[in-house]
Parts: sequence; structure tokens; C-alpha cells
Amino acid sequence: METPALPLQADKSGILKGSPRLPGDKSISHRAVMIAGLAVGESRIEGLLEGEDVIRTAEALRLLGAEVRRHEDGLWTVHGRGVGGLREPADVIDMGNSGTGTRLLLGILAAHGFTAHLTGDASLRQRPMERVMGPLRQMGASFQAREGGRLPLSVTGTPDLIPIDYELPMASAQVKSAVLLAGLHAMGATTVIEPAPTRDHTEIMLAHFGAQLTMEEREGNARAITVQGQPELTARNIQVPGDPSSAAFPAVAALLTPGSEIRLPNVGLNETRTGLFAVLKGMGAQISILNERTQAGERVGDLEIHASDLRGVDVPADIAPSMIDEYPILAVAAACAHGTTMLRGLAELRVKESDRLAVMARGLAACGVAVEEGDDWLKIDGTGIPPRGGATIATELDHRIAMSFLVLGGVSEQPISIDDARPIDTSFPGFVALMNGLGASIREIAP
Ligand code: S3P
Repeated sequence: METPALPLQADKSGILKGSPRLPGDKSISHRAVMIAGLAVGESRIEGLLEGEDVIRTAEALRLLGAEVRRHEDGLWTVHGRGVGGLREPADVIDMGNSGTGTRLLLGILAAHGFTAHLTGDASLRQRPMERVMGPLRQMGASFQAREGGRLPLSVTGTPDLIPIDYELPMASAQVKSAVLLAGLHAMGATTVIEPAPTRDHTEIMLAHFGAQLTMEEREGNARAITVQGQPELTARNIQVPGDPSSAAFPAVAALLTPGSEIRLPNVGLNETRTGLFAVLKGMGAQISILNERTQAGERVGDLEIHASDLRGVDVPADIAPSMIDEYPILAVAAACAHGTTMLRGLAELRVKESDRLAVMARGLAACGVAVEEGDDWLKIDGTGIPPRGGATIATELDHRIAMSFLVLGGVSEQPISIDDARPIDTSFPGFVALMNGLGASIREIAP
């Protein structure tokens, strides 16, 4: 990152009240820009997340020949080049902090007969890319990557991709999406079998643009998604809902701050994303959904949240895919709840923007929370009273770790500081202003 680190401190928060608008959904925003870039004609995108990660995706699509424009009123337009119509980029593509942008883009690049070079920041350069390179190699693409299948890497695609049936070794929407986006370009039908349902925004968005997809339930919780290759995608208009993963931070802050009552309008409520709200309700949270509706195939609604006394719960592994990004903030809620919370099935947290299992366990312990970390689980013993706090957290370039500890700092006995708030802009630009507007007390401190 070019600017110097930005340390912040969260002091005890006032009562939280208000009805702020959240930034757009990150997952849907990436897909909107990429899929519009593969459509013929001009798509209009409202509510696009203008966070660093999505800006990198927009920049990548520009380098690949799509016309991506931001207009004054916040409207974005993408003039696409048709399926398989992207052109060789004249420079290295820098994906910043974004695993989603990188993995989805690799699926598209696999289908183009040129070589592209990708890199990213220190966090992204540590993250495993073999999980997408494996199936894309089977389809005919080739890669040269750093040891461990990490960035920087180069991909050489082919317009003659082979359709495959691919069984995902882990529940990952990014890997599923990479294979489906490659399959979109292959001659024939490509099927991905996922062990458990993961977010289905790629499927919904592809269908919205005119692709043909089918979904079949398989044994256990598994499902198979098939995309027919080489359709003509036609430009469409998209309204991106607010990001439920961003909603999670003010929502938990309001639950934990006595007397608080907030409303979060226009939040995406696709059921592959709402695991956190279900778990919080099981902990005793007062959360209601109002004005439920459907926008471009996505469920949307308003959330109303009242401060609540929470109690610990057992969170089973099978709910993990529907709340995979929400464990850091759930751990904060658990640290303030009464009793033990057991979080299971968390192996994937070790390969996110940071090793979130280790970073959360360390940070919570430093704040005086009784926490135990296992291979793929976390056990948190809450007393029903927020913990001591009074620590500085090393956030390891992880936006969700940074936001989680700022929320905890709003309720802990002593303030909590974080070493660097810059990564928050990847997913939640305006986080500090939004939280302070509700009544929180987050401020810059000297490095
Ligand atoms: C995402 C999928 C998830 C999630 C990430 C966004 C997506 O990653 O953690 O923040 O938009 O597809 P995995 O597919 O690696 O689980």
C-alpha cells in the first residue's frame, strides 16, 4: 500500500441509533463488472461497491479491453466485449488484496488465447491459487506460479477450453465461480459439484445476463451446477444490494451496546449469505427483516436491530459456508455473550486475507477473553460482560479483523487500537464515518 499505516482507536461507544446506507455487496460487485465485461452492449450498474477490491477488478477489465466507466452520480457502465472477446493486457494486472477478484478472473483468463500476469499485495501473494489452477489446467489453461501456487503468476489461456465435471474438494464459491466462468467459454456443458451450498451470486448473475444454468441437489448437502458454454450474453442493468457481510459490523455493535436501535436498509439477504443473522438470533439477538423483495434474482430487505443480551451457542460446521466471512465479528459477539460459544468447521479461515483463526484467537486473548484455538475450531467463554480490552491488535492486512476489533473496542472496558485501518477500504469504504455517525467513537491515533 502506498500510503503509511493508519492506526485507529475505538473508545467506548455511545448508544447507536440511525439508519445508514451500506456500501454495495462485494461479491455481487465483482461479478457484475466481470460478467458485464463478457456481455454484448452496455450494462448499467447501480450501487456498485466502490471499495479497493472492486476498483481493482474494474481496472483489470479495462486492461482487458472492456469499457468500464464511473459516472458522476455513482452509476457505473460497462461496455462488454462478448464471451471470449477480451484482449491481451499490456501490463501486469495488480489485484491488490482481492482473492475473489483474482480467482474469478483466472477462470475468465483461462479461456482467452493470450498470457496475462497477475500480482497482488503481501496478503494476496500468500494465498493459495492452486485450488483454481488445478481445474483450469484440466480444462486446457496453463500457469506459471510462485512456489505453493501463489502470486505473482502468469496464465496462458486457450479459446478451445474443454468442458469438465469437477467435484470441489472444499466448499468455495470462488473456485466454483472460476470453473463456471471458464465453462461459460467452453464448447459444451461444464458441471461443478459443491460439497455444500456456497454463495450462488455467479449463477444468479450469469442467468440474469442470459446464460443457461441448471442446479441439481445431490446426496447429503451437495449440489451440482451446470453451465452451457458459449452463450451470447446481453447487457443488463443491475442494482447491487448492500453487503450483508458489511452489515454484520454495525449490527453486532448495536446488539452489544445497551439501548441501541438501528435500521440497515437495502441489505442483500441471499440465504447463502445470512448464516450470521440466524446464529445471532439463536444467541438471543433481536433482529427483524422488513420490506423483503427480490432484485435481479437476489433477495433484499431492511434489517432492524435492537440491543440484546446474548448467550453462547454451538455453531455447527455445516452453517460455515453461509457465514464464512462473519466469524471474526461473531467471535466478538461471543466474547460479550453469556456462556460458551463453540465455532466449528473453520479450516478455510486459515487461508483468508489473514489466518483469521489464529489472528482472532490472539487478539481476543490480548483483550482478556477466555479463548481456545483448535485446528479448525474456536471456543470462546463469555461472562455476559464485555471484556477488558486495552490492547493493540495486529490486523495483518485483514479488513474484517480490523473492523471486528474496532467494534469490540466500542464496548470493552478499555479502548482497543488497531495497527492499520487501510485495508478496511477494500470492502467497507466509509466504515469509520458510518460507525461514528451511529454513535461510535473511533479516531485516528499517532503511529
Ligand atoms: C467469496 C467467497 C468466499 C468469501 C469471499 C468472497 C466470493 O471465499 O470468503 O470473501 O465472492 O465468491 P471462498 O470461496 O474462498 O470461500
